[in-house]
Amino acid sequence: MHLAYPSRKTSNPPPYHAPRSSRFPLLRRSRVKTIAIIACAVGAVLFLLSHIFGGGDGVPSGTPPVVIVTVMDTVGYSKEYQESVKENRLQYARKHGYATFFPSIGDYPLNGSPNSWARVPAARHAMTKYPHSEYIWVLEQNALIMNPALSVEEHIMNPKRLESLMIKDQSIVPPDSVIKTFPNLKGENIDLVLSQDKEGLSQASFIIRKGEWSKFFLDTWFDPLYRSYNFQKADAHALEHIVQWHPTILSKLALVPQKIMNAYNLGSGQEQEGGYKDGDFVVRFPGCDSPYAQGRDCAKEAEPFMRQWRTLENARELAEYFRCQKGFVKQQPTAGSQHRSTSQCDILPLPDALDAQGTTETEGQRTLRVSEAITKLQAKLVPSGPDVVRYLTLPKEGWSAEDVSKELEALANMDHTRWEDGFVSGAVYHGGDELMKLQTEAFGKFTVANPIHPDVFPGVRKMEAEVVAMVLAMFNAPSGATGVSTSGGTDSILMACLSARQKAYHERGVKEPEMILPETAHTAFRKAGEYFGIKIHLVPCPAPSYQVDVRRVARLINSNTVLLVGSAPNFPHGIIDDIPALSKLASNRRKPIPLHVDCCLGSFLVPFLEKAGFETTPFDFRLKGVTSISCDTHKYGFAPKGNSTVLYRTATLRSYQYFISPDWSGGVYASPGIAGSRPGALIAGCWASLMNTGEAGYINACNEIVGCTKKIIDAITENPSLKSDLYVLGKPLVSVVAFASKSLDIYDIADAMSAKGWHLNSLQSPPAIHVAVTLPITKVWEKLVADLVAVVEGEREKERVRIVEGKGAKGKSVGDSAALYGVAGSLPNKSVVVELASGFLDTLYKA
Ligand SMILES: Cc1ncc(COP(=O)(O)O)c(C=O)c1O
Repeated sequence: MHLAYPSRKTSNPPPYHAPRSSRFPLLRRSRVKTIAIIACAVGAVLFLLSHIFGGGDGVPSGTPPVVIVTVMDTVGYSKEYQESVKENRLQYARKHGYATFFPSIGDYPLNGSPNSWARVPAARHAMTKYPHSEYIWVLEQNALIMNPALSVEEHIMNPKRLESLMIKDQSIVPPDSVIKTFPNLKGENIDLVLSQDKEGLSQASFIIRKGEWSKFFLDTWFDPLYRSYNFQKADAHALEHIVQWHPTILSKLALVPQKIMNAYNLGSGQEQEGGYKDGDFVVRFPGCDSPYAQGRDCAKEAEPFMRQWRTLENARELAEYFRCQKGFVKQQPTAGSQHRSTSQCDILPLPDALDAQGTTETEGQRTLRVSEAITKLQAKLVPSGPDVVRYLTLPKEGWSAEDVSKELEALANMDHTRWEDGFVSGAVYHGGDELMKLQTEAFGKFTVANPIHPDVFPGVRKMEAEVVAMVLAMFNAPSGATGVSTSGGTDSILMACLSARQKAYHERGVKEPEMILPETAHTAFRKAGEYFGIKIHLVPCPAPSYQVDVRRVARLINSNTVLLVGSAPNFPHGIIDDIPALSKLASNRRKPIPLHVDCCLGSFLVPFLEKAGFETTPFDFRLKGVTSISCDTHKYGFAPKGNSTVLYRTATLRSYQYFISPDWSGGVYASPGIAGSRPGALIAGCWASLMNTGEAGYINACNEIVGCTKKIIDAITENPSLKSDLYVLGKPLVSVVAFASKSLDIYDIADAMSAKGWHLNSLQSPPAIHVAVTLPITKVWEKLVADLVAVVEGEREKERVRIVEGKGAKGKSVGDSAALYGVAGSLPNKSVVVELASGFLDTLYKA
């Protein structure tokens, strides 16, 4: 409805000026000059200080770019509903480094005006509370954020994007009010973003940009005159009024389609304009709270969407648990064997056992389904049947060596996925017979060795120190740099995080440590966060580069930040973050922040890229901000599993991971890391591998592995059968290539590759597959590409048939990967995932 306006004379707000001093003109010229000089000097000092302590742009470090404001009605809704609404915003905000603000209606004196007015002083309040935040997004309570992948900056406020969204020359009050949105506005000049439904402007979800104009706008809107005017739709109609009568407001306004930030739940009319569709950013329940909305209940209407949103969140969580670096494989049967995979991913009976109903079922039903799922899991993982003998107590008399050897042979030959044939992504990095023989010999010579007793095993001490020295040299460590060897990448990362936390505690008194991670950084950092009480900030790694957004990292830095992290490369997409930019960020401040480079996967490839003639990028200690590096000798260093290194720029940093107990009754005790006793045999195996392969061997391997990765990339980007449907994520420089599809379901492709015996990795955010190329894969990459071509052609054909049969594009995915990762509305709630995951871990110890 389009209401009559109050007369312009009474409603016109005063033109906006910055407050002026009336005394200024009275000052004498000389005094003005002195004041100006002092002001400039103070300004210069403030500028310098802000650059030393701040995160650049004059914005203090740690400032959230966006503040989400939701005014809570604490009276009319259940506590549970209110908490869910808050959780929805909080989870989204955490993902993007935003802040949330949840004032209550009662916090603002409205003097009898309708409660909906509270959103205006709340927005103003948020601007005061977060003066440096760029955007305030006011989202009313009866709405949910449904697509957490979309950021406010990119999805809406990016000037180019905004320009493409703006509905120009559109009547402010539909269908045909005279005042229309301006046709020639530029995205960069917009300070207010709104949407419009078929009745008028919607104030339920709007964004304002920080600045004087926005304060003026909010103050104008909240004018007591409008509040007392008794508009039928209170603040909504007041908004329409000021937008139409004040060109200063209209000239800063972008009207965007509802689906961008304000889609409505229209029930069966969802296909109507403005109706919510899966993938939309926000869903709202308009009018559910109206006193005239008889029989409606906002919480009930929101319930299915709450479930869906949680399901999506859980899908991400789920992948955290089971991002097991393997795919979902029906293994490659080879002659005479029926291989049964033992990878974590393909043994989990998740798709059958759990579905979206898991969120509504009773406690009893859920327990039953989880235990059913775990039983299935056990049946797959733990051999049973009359032929299986289980040894659950010590044999009364020890077996003969011959008998043990026979049984070992049988155990080694249990059905397994054939990594030996090169069908497994990652997992086994070398596997050459000669090297394995040498490693076994090294084990034999040092079976009983334990580096905790260096006097008893001096050879092991020497080898361990030399392994660390060799790796330090590969990473161009400066003099004084140090390191330790560890049991694997996770151990190295844990130690680097512990060292950073201890450094901040001892040197700066930080008691609530925080670290800032690319969201693609290995989960070992999250483990460190949990083990060592370090708060984690995750920073998006957006397309097209898929590198961490360094500006966002900068914004999250605060006085509690103990560590920044970059990957070289990361596990999911094989992308090397912009380490030089992170290094600058870490070191260009009065008190530099430690920066860890995770080169666990890059290990012995990244340091040799240049010598092997490939493109590279700075990543090591030559960047002055880099203070620690993890490098896995047991990946592309080809050492036996159980070997890694963590390197530190200084001895002090290393000492922060030491454990020393000077007064134990068992004697003075000191160990460099978590473990006490350690296997000297593994250190010997590692040393032997490094010495046997040598620099030339690693350069050759780099040539083969990275060369093969490039051939796979070329096939995906150039082969006519692949390039039309697949695309490579970012620009991988090392051994991992991740690819996705815009036209086909990538999880169907993953499942079809599994059916052909390939053990690839399914990824999410975005849905994709990756291959981590190893030496065994370099022997069969052509088959990999040929199988991929056949699979893509098959999926394309299925798609064509679906369309011809009128079933629409992209049929429902049916395979394991699709069901687990496809987030097609069939994933379990979080507690179910946790129960199943711990059931899985229990199963590992079922004899
Ligand atoms: C980038 C990266 N960092 C750390 C790790 C953890 O290594 P580990 O499995 O040896 O603990 C991995 C493992 O794949 C990785 O890819």
